[in-house]
Amino acid sequence: MTLKQIQEDILKLKKQNDVILLAHYYQPIEIQEVADHLGDSLGLSRLAKEANTEYIIFAGVDFMAETASILNQDKRVLLPSSEACCPMAAFLDENMVKEFRLDNPGLPVVTYVNSTAAVKAESDICCTSSNAVQIVEKISKEFNTNAVLFGPDANLGDYAEEKSHIKCIKCPPQGHCYVHTLLTVEDVKKIRQEHSNAKFLVHPECEREVRHLADFVGSTAQMYNKVKKSPSEETQFIIGTELGLLERMAQDFPNKKFYLAKDKMICYNMKKNTIELTKYVLEHLDDPTFEVKVPSEIAKRALNPIEKMLRFSKI
Ligand code: 13P
Ligand code: SF4
Repeated sequence: MTLKQIQEDILKLKKQNDVILLAHYYQPIEIQEVADHLGDSLGLSRLAKEANTEYIIFAGVDFMAETASILNQDKRVLLPSSEACCPMAAFLDENMVKEFRLDNPGLPVVTYVNSTAAVKAESDICCTSSNAVQIVEKISKEFNTNAVLFGPDANLGDYAEEKSHIKCIKCPPQGHCYVHTLLTVEDVKKIRQEHSNAKFLVHPECEREVRHLADFVGSTAQMYNKVKKSPSEETQFIIGTELGLLERMAQDFPNKKFYLAKDKMICYNMKKNTIELTKYVLEHLDDPTFEVKVPSEIAKRALNPIEKMLRFSKI
């Protein structure tokens, strides 16, 4: 079967069933091409909350599908590959959050959505890469503190601290993304030399020294919008994030040229979802293997910090 045939089958199966297919920008491009909606973590959480179909197929990683499940306890959330897990989430568990609270009474706990449902359940508020600065500012004001606990990504915490001037105590200090921390200052200097007219866009999960070399720092959707709104004379961009976003933009903006900041910036966890698996899921919507269901006791407690984030990042 050719790729085109598989994609056509997926489009047909979607029409025949009460299903929505959401895909993150890091998904294989052939999945992005057949998705109903694409987005960053924040945008997809909003879409998941608004979904009115019986089934939500979440082409992304586990924490994204879990967030959709927390927001939709009455719906069936399906993840094509059970191996599509974000390793960053493993840096922080709920006991570490509880210990931190005991050690730092009165400080709010901000957790990046790239975390387990159990960690979210122990948090005051969640954040994504697109609203971390805003969330840290607002929650510290609400708690009347000048510091917050931030986990599990120490680089995003560092970025939020730099921009908000609110201390983000990293929990744990070594939490990171293996894809974004691959990019070094030397890599950036080299590629900027090779493409001296290109703008350099970077994700806040990159290290501080790398971020400081960028023309723009933002989430995947923010980078996409930056390119979309760029003047026609800006035609070249170095992309400091995962390959999938570059592939999306190369299709959507054919008059612009894109260079991946480093060849190896591929999230193998995101790529565990394949077009074949996506079709298979659509053919077996009631197969429990694909379902992601956060237990209701955890989901109830995790809902509040997620909904609070959605309220706080509206304005
Ligand atoms: P975005 O919120 O930018 O989509 O990022 C999610 C993520 O996993 C980055 O590695
Ligand atoms: Fe997790 Fe990094 Fe992959 Fe994002 S790119 S899903 S943070 S491993």
